[in-house]
Parts: sequence; structure tokens; C-alpha cells
Amino acid sequence: MRVKLAAGNWKMNGLAADLAEIDALAAAHPAPRSEVLICPPATLISLMAARAAGGPVKVGAQCCHPAESGAHTGDLSAAMLADAGASYVIVGHSERRADHGEGDDDVRAQARAALAAGLRVIVCVGETEAQRDASNTLDIISGQLAGSVPDLVTGDNLVIAYEPVWAIGTGRTPTTDQIGEVHDFIRARLEARFGAGVGRSVRILYGGSVKPGNATEIFAVSNVDGALVGGASLKATDFGAIIAALDEA
Ligand code: PGA
Repeated sequence: MRVKLAAGNWKMNGLAADLAEIDALAAAHPAPRSEVLICPPATLISLMAARAAGGPVKVGAQCCHPAESGAHTGDLSAAMLADAGASYVIVGHSERRADHGEGDDDVRAQARAALAAGLRVIVCVGETEAQRDASNTLDIISGQLAGSVPDLVTGDNLVIAYEPVWAIGTGRTPTTDQIGEVHDFIRARLEARFGAGVGRSVRILYGGSVKPGNATEIFAVSNVDGALVGGASLKATDFGAIIAALDEA
């Protein structure tokens, strides 16, 4: 059985005062059945890790540099993130791919570095609206999986997040049939590449405008093992409602 995962991505939001949301979340959901993760900006990782210690909330990062160390001004290595208290890192988010020109090779190198540092990786894939309109969704996903996911993964240290670019931050979501089609496809690709044991153990998250109001129907879709949540992860009440929906699924 795959342990469901509710992952929050705070993006470039959050100051120290916002850590109160973690206290509220932990108080409202002291023992969720699902794994709960928040990926704050790097400036808050160590503060959040200290504050969340002993509670249900794990802390992750939003990206990492592929190198172990060196002359890379402004960047953070996976070992630094682990040292600060992160246990996961998101790689290949579409905002990183777009804003920083990160391609599949970069994402795979980052994922490798993260695994080497003992972090679990959440590798994001997803089509643009133009790619979906051109009926290229599954080809794009297949290419991103092949290019962005490193070879040496286990069912435990790899998570895939399917995030259609056009659904992120827009309030628009695919139909449940569309989500199911892509998640089933990702599962089949993982099993084909890594074998049934690993392929069936990897969690596949849906991301893109997940809210309390649509979480229950999304979590009922086959091969949806949780969500990667942006805007709705910033407030404990909203994210808590999504965790509750996942616990019930
Ligand atoms: P959103 O972002 O929930 O605000 O759409 C999701 C994401 O980018 O991970």
C-alpha cells in the first residue's frame, strides 16, 4: 500500500511569522493517516524543521543545485537542504523549468544529487495548454519522465507530481478522466522502466489548483496518491481540509 502524501509548495511566499500556520496545522491534524509535507522557501527550512519537530509535518525544499558544493553564487546544494532539516526536495517544477530554463537533463542531475544527499525527490512533469490542445500530452509526459527521472530510484525515494502547466495557479483543473488517463499512463511507464515492485510503490501526486472544494473528487481518481498544492497550502485551514479529504480517500 502506498502511503498517501499531501505536499504543500509555498513557492516564494512566507516569512517567519507565517510559521504559525504550521502550529495550527499540527494542532488540527495531530495524527493524519497521510504523510504531510510543506516545502517553504529555503530561508524558512531550518526554522520550520525546528518548529515542526515531533509533529506530523515534514519539511522539504523547492529545488536544489546538481553539484555537491562549489562556486555557484546564490545556489543551495542538496546536502545543505538536508542539513537544514529538509527530507524531500521538489525538482523540475514548471516554474523552475520556465523561469530558470531548467530542462530534463538539469532536472535529472538535480534529482540525482538529491538522492545522493539522502533526500526523497518529487519530480514534476506536465504539459502546457498548447501541448494538450495538440493532443501531445502523453508524449510530453513520457519524454519528461524518461529525461527527468534518474535510474537509481526506489519505490520509497521517488515521487512523481503530474502538474498540467495550464492548471497551476489558474483555478482550472483537468477533468477527473483526464487526470486518471495521465496517472495511469505514468504508472505504466514507471512499471515498464523500473519493474512492477518499484513502479507500483512510487507515489503519483496531482498538482494544479487543488482546493478543499475539488480535493475529494481528485483523490478518488485511480493512481492519484495525493497532491502537490500551491496556493491552498499557505493557510492551515485550506491545507488541513485537503489533508482531511486525502485521509478519507
Ligand atoms: P497551485 O500550484 O495549487 O497554486 O495551482 C500548484 C503547484 O505549482 O505546485
